[in-house]
Amino acid sequence: MNIVILTGAGISAESGIQTFRAEDGLWENHPIEAVATPEGFARDPDRVYAFYNARRAQLQQALIQPNPAHHALATLARSAEHQVYLITQNVDDLHERAGSPQVHHMHGELKSAKCPISEQNQPWATQLTGEDLCQCCQPAQSLRPDIVWFGEIPYDLDQCERHLQQTDLFVAIGTSGQVYPAAGFAAQAKRAGAHLVEINLVATDHVFDERYEGVASEMVPLWVTQLLEK
Ligand code: OAD
Repeated sequence: MNIVILTGAGISAESGIQTFRAEDGLWENHPIEAVATPEGFARDPDRVYAFYNARRAQLQQALIQPNPAHHALATLARSAEHQVYLITQNVDDLHERAGSPQVHHMHGELKSAKCPISEQNQPWATQLTGEDLCQCCQPAQSLRPDIVWFGEIPYDLDQCERHLQQTDLFVAIGTSGQVYPAAGFAAQAKRAGAHLVEINLVATDHVFDERYEGVASEMVPLWVTQLLEK
């Protein structure tokens, strides 16, 4: 079966990474327009570097580890019976660390920096500042966090849409469905005839055919086990 999986912040919540829109979520203390827009970066780059530096440092703390939901998706992706296309809105690397072979980070990655002109990116594990320069331009440019900000176009959209056209099953895990274009993926898959499953702490949208309500670390392994036993 062809399966497209879309994950959001909820899958990493039990690994210790804050979601965005919970009452104590990231956007509560850090205004989106200040830290997640090109205009915010132009106005106060140091604030934006500091915000993503703190999140990159947190991601590398020993206590931040993939949870059973990430591991279950990796098991599914490696199973011979299904073709899994995993899209994540998350900028952490927990799917990779759990062993998922191919992860499409539509909103970028914390452990990557990019040139604002050529858009070439490079792995980045430490603090990033405006003094870190690219090697692709003349004169060299200050690197920026490799994050897709509001107003920018997510990565790999054409490829995602191609997979949505051909999928038998679409599964949204731990995402509030408030940010487009990802929020429109379920409807796109439905139009193409796919069965839609949602796994979330609380149900979000009536478009889904089937729901698993509860924490991702329990519900995702349950769903994967059921699918593999079918
Ligand atoms: P949100 O913070 O908007 O939503 C998180 C979702 O996860 C909610 O629907 C919660 O109910 C659910 N959730 C929380 N804990 C959970 C758990 N333990 N198990 C299962 N579900 C749980 O995060 P996203 O939908 O990922 O973009 O946000 C989408 C985008 O908005 C992000 O990629 C980010 C943000 O602005 C950019 O920064 C470009």
